[in-house]
Amino acid sequence: MTDVNAARGKQAVNLQEKLERIEGFWQPRVIAEMNDYQFKLVRIEGDFIWHDHPETDETFIVIEGRLRIDFRDGAVHIGPGEMFVVPKGMEHKPFAEKEVRMMLIEPRGTLNTGREGGARTAENDIWI
Ligand code: NI
Repeated sequence: MTDVNAARGKQAVNLQEKLERIEGFWQPRVIAEMNDYQFKLVRIEGDFIWHDHPETDETFIVIEGRLRIDFRDGAVHIGPGEMFVVPKGMEHKPFAEKEVRMMLIEPRGTLNTGREGGARTAENDIWI
């Protein structure tokens, strides 16, 4: 009974609806949290910068498009319905020849440019 009442008034998060509201590329937007982790949606196109996240792994789940993540010793291709976890501390560079829409899962406070910083660093913790 308690669980039923707790669910009253709750609403599912619709990924497509959220994605349509995101303007611009490389600007992750938070859609949910689980404990101290955040679920983010982002649209990307073109090249990013080499960076790593010394404190955490980083999960990529592709919703639309084909993502390539370059590593110093190779690359992984991730299509719609596929995911990949970049290990903590491993240098990587996302690339999208055409627009890719995807979900990121990472701890709250994780910057898109990791410890590299610089001009491509997006403002963090913006909900949509
Ligand atoms: Ni990263």
